[in-house]
Amino acid sequence: MQAIEIKPNIYWVGAIDWSMRSFHGYSTSRGSSYNAYLIIDEKITLIDTVKTPFYGELISRISSVIDPAKIDYIISNHVEPDHSGSINLLITHYAKNATIVTSDPQGLKGLTARYGALKYKPVKSGDELSIGKRTLKFVATPMLHWPDSMVTYCPEEKILFSNDAFGQHIATSNRFDDENDLHAVMEEAKKYYANILMLYGKQAQSALKALSSLDIGIIATGHGIIWRKHILAILASYEKWSEGEIDDAKAVVVFDTMWGSTEKIAREITDAFTERGIAVSYFDLRCDHISDVITEVLTSKYLAVGSPTINNQMMPPVAALLCYLKGFAPKGRSAIAFGSYGWGGQSIKLVEDELRAAGCDIATDMIRVQNVPTKEQLKEIREKIISMK
Ligand code: FEO
Repeated sequence: MQAIEIKPNIYWVGAIDWSMRSFHGYSTSRGSSYNAYLIIDEKITLIDTVKTPFYGELISRISSVIDPAKIDYIISNHVEPDHSGSINLLITHYAKNATIVTSDPQGLKGLTARYGALKYKPVKSGDELSIGKRTLKFVATPMLHWPDSMVTYCPEEKILFSNDAFGQHIATSNRFDDENDLHAVMEEAKKYYANILMLYGKQAQSALKALSSLDIGIIATGHGIIWRKHILAILASYEKWSEGEIDDAKAVVVFDTMWGSTEKIAREITDAFTERGIAVSYFDLRCDHISDVITEVLTSKYLAVGSPTINNQMMPPVAALLCYLKGFAPKGRSAIAFGSYGWGGQSIKLVEDELRAAGCDIATDMIRVQNVPTKEQLKEIREKIISMK
């Protein structure tokens, strides 16, 4: 496996995870990549590593340029094992004298806990490291998305090694944004932001402010493609997403159903939103994944969640969605709970309680229908959605 030169003497030496379909619960239908970068200078420097099972791929790509034993520095921007997972193997088998550069104190703490006492060089935000003709400058990006997270900037090359920030879970043989379908890349960037970073909007805003003074020609991400042509587009998207900007003309309708009655209500709500000129993202939890729902929640004003009642509870897939949603604490969404039931009908109130607990505003009374909705009941539901603020 070969390294790919992204600038003279700077190489992508990462790994492509073509088969991954779940990243700790986030569905990754396009796979992913773990991006590592090798800089050949007076000090041979590796920026991040790869998930442990891909260690061989990393070594193979590095070896196509240089003996991995010659690595002087390993910059570890982030402790999470998809980026740090090969450090120990690399140090044990090849780069025995390499120094690991990590954020102070959280990176040092995290790496020490995982890999023991190695030769660490902790750095603070603003610290610089000369590696010969080039300088590496470190910028802390705490909670983007772990406490240890940092990015590394090389002013001579105008490259920002951004780790998780601006990444996407996408496996592709083309390394740059302009070599891929931009729509698919932006779709995955949005999904990535929603599922990994939505909770940390304030921290993302601080990071964008800290990066705004840098002259950036390339964003070399930790996952997916490298940005070189559409840098302004991805920065503008991060501004919008991190500000929590939502679209009044977008709604998410999501439900599970037992015998089709809650589905009928979902369809009626969808039609009513459509009549209002509000575009609906429609998710049936029997076949759609909660991480795709969250992607659309990121930019939608309205959220309608439906569940029938089973054993006095909501359906487990709806409970999973609402548990996941609560973790993101979305603000400013107008929500509505709905569902059908045979007797009891506790699920709809439980859904509404969870929507409130997630930080949503309840836009209108919950919709509860016993058994199968009649024509008249569907008409009432339509009118309720049409008159809802
Ligand atoms: Fe890609 Fe937070 O690890």
